[in-house]
Amino acid sequence: MLFSTIATCILALTTSALGQKMQFCYPPPGTTVTAGQPFTISLNEANSLTGWTDIGVAIGMRSCPSGNCIQASVDDGIGFAPFLQIDTSFQATDHGPGGPENCNLYGNVTVTLPEGTSGEVQLAVAHYYIIGASDIPGIDVSSILLNVV
Ligand SMILES: *[C@@H]1O[C@H](CO)[C@@H](O)[C@H](O)[C@H]1NC(C)=O
Repeated sequence: MLFSTIATCILALTTSALGQKMQFCYPPPGTTVTAGQPFTISLNEANSLTGWTDIGVAIGMRSCPSGNCIQASVDDGIGFAPFLQIDTSFQATDHGPGGPENCNLYGNVTVTLPEGTSGEVQLAVAHYYIIGASDIPGIDVSSILLNVV
């Protein structure tokens, strides 16, 4: 028990020391988008003194018209068929100040939600990266709620 508590603490410290967290910075949560029509999402990363390399992003969607989407996570996944978009060319780059919603280290991805989607959806990104001198692989998951018409 004590061992597992210590192990959990060490894991948490290691993860926070070497995580490379990605966040949606555009569009803002609650934005209304149209099913079947492409729109841009901007994915921002915190800068880090520890060098890292983006491997890519996977974007998933959960439709939850009555709200209460299951929070996307590494354990619970990022979404369901038919929507899954993988972009292995994703690289966040520093665009300097003045980016959308104060993003500066970000990349844009164009997504089109399936026709017939409506109401609240959770859009989630799984971000895969390699970080640090030992090339430690990592994944982090982030999400936003959007309204689809
Ligand atoms: C990324 O997309 C946002 C939102 O459409 C836009 O404001 C920004 O100029 C785009 N950035 C680049 C580098 O294309």
